[in-house]
Amino acid sequence: MRTQIIAHRGSKGTRPENTLVAFRAAIADGADGIETDVHLSRDGHLIIMHDERVDRTTDGEGLIQDLTLAQLKRLDAGSYFDPAYTNTRVPTLDDVVQLLVAQHFTGIFNLELKTNKIHYEGIEDLVADYFDQHSVPFKLVYSSFYAKSVERLHRLQPEVETDSLFSARRRIARRLHAQHVVLGYHPAMRWVRLNWLWLPKIQLRPWTVNKPRDMRFCFRHRFAGIITDYPGLAYQIRQNY
Ligand code: G3P
Ligand code: CA
Repeated sequence: MRTQIIAHRGSKGTRPENTLVAFRAAIADGADGIETDVHLSRDGHLIIMHDERVDRTTDGEGLIQDLTLAQLKRLDAGSYFDPAYTNTRVPTLDDVVQLLVAQHFTGIFNLELKTNKIHYEGIEDLVADYFDQHSVPFKLVYSSFYAKSVERLHRLQPEVETDSLFSARRRIARRLHAQHVVLGYHPAMRWVRLNWLWLPKIQLRPWTVNKPRDMRFCFRHRFAGIITDYPGLAYQIRQNY
């Protein structure tokens, strides 16, 4: 099976990250999957953004957990990237799912629970409830750096693939994989070791694979996927494999 191209935060390299504009571009570029990040607002909504604070990617300031959905929806999440994207809004999880459904997207939707810095109380249950109530045409894959989130998601929805993220030693990922809690490893590219490909059923999807040399390496070794800011570039390079 060929290596799947998963668009990191949408087409982060060419669009404002984690916005509907970025997800649409990723699909247009031929991405097989979308990776994105979820947090919890003050009033309990599932918010799509990378950082815990809104400061870097919007014209607002503060922690997502201190803002309501109405406050978050007033923010401009596009102009930090380029004035051409002024007034691009912060999406909720439901906004993204609705877009993917409307686009007839059947690839991988990799939802990362951003619980490694703030342990949002109950976020795993909210996410699992959401997907219990919405039947979706795409393949859902959960990931997190935080082992407790991964374990909780697996308990709630054992039928959904759950993967471990890591950017240093894989001690926790190794345990979770041996316990069949996670199927996949999502390591930082510099930590990848080829002998992991021999682990039973392993889904190896490193991030953030932006250099053509790294893309070629992953394609050559038939990794399950790469998570990249440049899905269009990856798509072109993969044509040779
Ligand atoms: O899922 C891989 C990658 O997104 C993890 O790092 O910081 O970009 O969320 P980060
Ligand atoms: Ca992420």
